[in-house]
Amino acid sequence: MERRRFLKLAGGSGLVLAAGGITAFATTRTPTHALGPWAQAGHYNDPRKFALSYALLAPNPHNRQPWEIGLHGDDVIIIDRDKTKNLPHTDPFDRQLTIGMGCFLELLTIAATARGYRAVTTYFPDGADGPLAHIQFQDGAVQDDLFDHILHRRSCKEGFDTRRLNDAQIRSLSHHGHVVHDAAEVAHLQDLTWRAWMVEYETPRTQRESVELMRFGKRAINENPDGIAMGGAMLEAMNMLGVLDAETAADPSSTAYRQGIDMFRPLMMSTPHYIMLKTPANDRVSQLDAGRRWARLNLTTTAMGLALHPVSQALQEYQEMATLYRDIHKTYAAPGETIQMLGRLGYGPKVPPAPRWGLEEKLV
Ligand SMILES: Cc1cc2nc3c(=O)[nH]c(=O)nc-3n(C[C@H](O)[C@H](O)[C@H](O)COP(=O)(O)O)c2cc1C
Repeated sequence: MERRRFLKLAGGSGLVLAAGGITAFATTRTPTHALGPWAQAGHYNDPRKFALSYALLAPNPHNRQPWEIGLHGDDVIIIDRDKTKNLPHTDPFDRQLTIGMGCFLELLTIAATARGYRAVTTYFPDGADGPLAHIQFQDGAVQDDLFDHILHRRSCKEGFDTRRLNDAQIRSLSHHGHVVHDAAEVAHLQDLTWRAWMVEYETPRTQRESVELMRFGKRAINENPDGIAMGGAMLEAMNMLGVLDAETAADPSSTAYRQGIDMFRPLMMSTPHYIMLKTPANDRVSQLDAGRRWARLNLTTTAMGLALHPVSQALQEYQEMATLYRDIHKTYAAPGETIQMLGRLGYGPKVPPAPRWGLEEKLV
């Protein structure tokens, strides 16, 4: 069966984003099709498609990739957010999804400079209910140094080295956000982020939201290349043996459920530093700007050989999380400020993680 999915276009001409056919089930467990966009990045003549092919590698919550894209005339792109990809339980106000759109816009802007273009962006050109951004490509940009790191950037969801950053690294990253390096504060945040992780895990509706987006094994990843990829030989073998699937992952009495906890706790505790991005307001433009800053931070950590991993649970706005949300804001935010992003920061594994499986779109 050939499965083909088209994203809705924001009107206008030209660009079609599609997921192509499913590749045959090969001996390797690598979901080649789902990784296609990483291989395709940069292989387009139209400077807008060139820039978009990098933008769609942006970090975004649960890898939902909610961008909708329309090309207009020779030099305009209209961007919107696909609301069918909302995460109503963990992101009830679409704050995190909007941050992900900011990451997308920043990668687009950076990649445009590699072709000499400025991506002149107007947010919400038709008001709050219209498209998210109008972008016009104009001549005259110098290449942004961060462009070289787009293909190597990852959200590093792995155990970190205990090695700490030196003063120069901390100073340099402090231009991007608030770096937490004091040992007692780090220990406090390890505890808080772990408790928040457990709240999300033990709240059935928020856990279910993640489980429903899990793609178990190569075939599922290639068929639905978005969401949370549970790939690799071991997870796939567990899936084939019937030990790990959506049902067991959601069942608190199952081994798979407990293994989820056993796997994540040491990872979350192996954090030598945290970094947080805050904004004075919490409107859509502030959230988009936070996304742009996060993308630049993640590219900068990549350039520095460091790993960054968002741990967003304590920042999520639902009732069960309210106490931890209040705690972290009381400690780290001035009245009225919002902590938009919180990340584990340090040295990641010697072999960096592979690109995230499960990229949905391919520019054709
Ligand atoms: C606003 C936002 C919140 C995120 N929160 C988390 C999180 O709490 N835990 C996590 O493991 N990853 C988180 N991520 C990372 C995404 O899961 C990741 O970007 C996506 O799976 C694509 O992977 P990549 O960034 O390695 O390309 C977040 C990303 C964004 C933009």
